[in-house]
Amino acid sequence: MTDKNMTSLTIRRPDDWHLHLRDGAMLQAVLPETARHFGRAIIMPNLVPPVVTAAQAVDYRERIMAALPGDMTFKPLMTLYLTEETDPDDVAAAHASGIATAVKLYPAGATTNSASGVRDFEKVRPVLERMADIGMPLCIHGEVTDGDIDIFDREAVFIDKVLRPLRKKVPDLRIIMEHVTTQDAVDYVRDTHKNLAATITTHHLIINRNHILVGGIKPHFYCLPVAKREGHRIALVQAAVSGDKRFFLGTDSAPHTDPLKLQACGCAGIFTAPNTMSCLAEVFNAAGALPKLEAFASLNGPRFYGLAPNEATITLTKGDPVAYPTHIDTPDGPVTVFDPGFDLHWSVTSN
Ligand code: NCD
Ligand code: ZN
Repeated sequence: MTDKNMTSLTIRRPDDWHLHLRDGAMLQAVLPETARHFGRAIIMPNLVPPVVTAAQAVDYRERIMAALPGDMTFKPLMTLYLTEETDPDDVAAAHASGIATAVKLYPAGATTNSASGVRDFEKVRPVLERMADIGMPLCIHGEVTDGDIDIFDREAVFIDKVLRPLRKKVPDLRIIMEHVTTQDAVDYVRDTHKNLAATITTHHLIINRNHILVGGIKPHFYCLPVAKREGHRIALVQAAVSGDKRFFLGTDSAPHTDPLKLQACGCAGIFTAPNTMSCLAEVFNAAGALPKLEAFASLNGPRFYGLAPNEATITLTKGDPVAYPTHIDTPDGPVTVFDPGFDLHWSVTSN
């Protein structure tokens, strides 16, 4: 049987290494969509105000666990939002106590709720050096924010202007370049053999920039980093299906209500939590690489983070198209679910 003819696949329960759960009513509404299929997730700290301190991470984790339906198991892995005022001792204590798994670096102004991010990288160097000492990983939103750099070039420029110099200064720091969108990033990660990995989202494996712009603007395909040319998407698929241990899933599922997406200045973010595993099965199957899905979604991430893979499994079964809701309702308004533009034949069962 060739891979493309497979009709069933059982893999370790996947984890999501980059997820936005928000807070309050939105958290309640979106958390089950992830917990249904995923064992753990790296929780993004870009709330308003952001999750900066260990104490804030403790509170946020409690709110997440309180929002989890009683019949579901899920482990949130918390992150601290790096600011120029972040205290290295607080970060080290949060890591030692297990409350924070990683620190998140947003260049100031790069994306949704990133105003408190980093402007001057020298100011955060003491924190980064401390993290390198204790083996705590840094998750990076890898885009420069200079107004004179074209939005489609911001990731590639970040690699040269920020990431290479940073890695020279703090070579022992373990870094995850998140939601990579370019051939440049894939090449950079492949050429680096120590302390660097990358996450890839579900939607960047499926859409390119034409999906956003051709035939009318499609706000539900707008996210940051913005999707690039088709050649870049192909490079991402090749990296994801390769089994290379340095690439793993971080959905960047980022819910915003339709009223916030569908306006003159709409928010960045694509909500993929409900149908991510079915979408990925289509992508991997089309590439003739379904058996590699487990490495990408369930094994490579825990390996980089020094954690064991989940014991439980899920089974993906091919059949008639699976019906996913077009949106989920929240008290704040509907949140549209990512539409991959093709039927999803793979249903997911938790074992
Ligand atoms: C994210 C969000 O909405 O919080 N948006 C997005 O487009 N991905 C922020 C982010 O991860 O960049
Ligand atoms: Zn994100």
